[in-house]
Amino acid sequence: MVDEAPTTRHYDFVVEEAIGAPDGVEKLMLVVNGQFPGPTIEANAGDRIVVNVTNKLPNATAIHWHGLYQNGTNYYDGTHAVTQCGIPPGEWMVYNFTFDGYAGSTWWHAHADTQYTDGVVGALIVHSRDEQVPSYDGDIALQLSDYYHGLSADLLEYYFTPGGIEGGPGNEPVPDGGTINGVGQYGSHNSSFFNLTLEANKTYRLRLINPGTFVPMQFSLDNHLMTVVEADGTAVEPVEVSSVSVAVAQRYSVLLKTDQPAGAYWMRAELDSTQFTYDNPGCQMEIRGVIRYGVSDDTMPDVALLNNPPSLPSGSPAELDESDLVPVGGGPAPEPTFTTYFAMSMQFENPEDSNSRYLAFINETSWEPLNRTASLFAHLGQSAPSGSANYEVSQLITTINDISVVDMIIDNVDDGDHPFHLHGYKFWVMASGGGTYQGQAVNNTAPPLRDTVVIPAESWAILRFVADNPGYWTFHCHIQWHMSAGLLFQFNVLPSKSAQFDIPQYMLDQCSR
Ligand code: C2O
Repeated sequence: MVDEAPTTRHYDFVVEEAIGAPDGVEKLMLVVNGQFPGPTIEANAGDRIVVNVTNKLPNATAIHWHGLYQNGTNYYDGTHAVTQCGIPPGEWMVYNFTFDGYAGSTWWHAHADTQYTDGVVGALIVHSRDEQVPSYDGDIALQLSDYYHGLSADLLEYYFTPGGIEGGPGNEPVPDGGTINGVGQYGSHNSSFFNLTLEANKTYRLRLINPGTFVPMQFSLDNHLMTVVEADGTAVEPVEVSSVSVAVAQRYSVLLKTDQPAGAYWMRAELDSTQFTYDNPGCQMEIRGVIRYGVSDDTMPDVALLNNPPSLPSGSPAELDESDLVPVGGGPAPEPTFTTYFAMSMQFENPEDSNSRYLAFINETSWEPLNRTASLFAHLGQSAPSGSANYEVSQLITTINDISVVDMIIDNVDDGDHPFHLHGYKFWVMASGGGTYQGQAVNNTAPPLRDTVVIPAESWAILRFVADNPGYWTFHCHIQWHMSAGLLFQFNVLPSKSAQFDIPQYMLDQCSR
């Protein structure tokens, strides 16, 4: 595919409710084209993508293309209440964009309420001849995620139970299990596995994507090591590992060599339970799949190994340590010209009332989606440098009037881990550490460059990016419960440019409906 001439690829997405049973337990889901996960978009870096999305849900929706830059097309970023009002029920919208040099593994998902938790997700693969990863023979996307039997709207209400779930304010709903490419197990409810029949003595690129809601997934394959070569669309110097923990919204490509004795092997995606705050006894903690080669395509691995994974030879490498990631051709990031400080915490909405909602705050602001408008739309035509209309107190917007190198200094004073994602950019992870930021130096040799990073409980980080892409770009925790609790803020970059965007009139008209 990578050798095809640049082209325009068209897709039709119908977002609708459907009954599904990915792990054997029937439930109501929200899906695209009746599929979970939804259709994979696979393209080359020089292509144009046109997606006609029809909304058959009872609520507005919007589809976000995670990690893409959308330079000049911020209004196709698909972020409800920020870059569009949402596609009203029964209506449609066409997203039309290019990749601006993005190459690698990513995904798309609904970015309205918690809809993607219910199934509106899919892989997005961008090939490029310029991608600096070692060569491989085969290419497979593996979407590994947690999974809930309840509908997310009900779970969200449960999350905001006065006093908190099981009496713990801020306790997140604990998942019931997970899926690998839409197939999970739940106790004895499902006896099938996502399975792949490969060829022996080849090298496969496995694109690990976590389109989940809450927890990291730990991926491994019995008897095999893997080599990490990509993180969030950045080629990295190869690192050999025995397993990889993929946080919500992150991606890693690993190379797998089918060089062990012919046979069938368990692949494992284990839910990271360190953030669970209460017991969900039925939770399926490890989701299994099968990789086989050199044998017939009904060969199964030994069931005796299911709960007793074979150990790797002593001296084998351990799990991926993110600090080992070095971008291929990486070097120092430019020096900052704009510094901004954020502290995040979780607190009661009304500090006097322990039955009020337990919300997320960034510098005293807890985000709530704007009603019947979007940040971008509210400022259209206002090309004054300061750029912004008067936003409500629920909006925390940092305006950057000129192209700048921005340092975000972030203190996470909460006791939870937060996988933070910036729209429209990749950032360099300049430094991080425990406690609060005390002026520590950055390490600017060849910092990792990605779009989603975990800022662990009670720790700080400095993230740096070149703000040269006009529009309203959110920075938010990708845990859907936390985003719903307000853990989101926005950069308003180059407002004099975004004020002049030529936004299709029908998108503006959708606000009133
Ligand atoms: Cu995966 Cu706000 O996005």
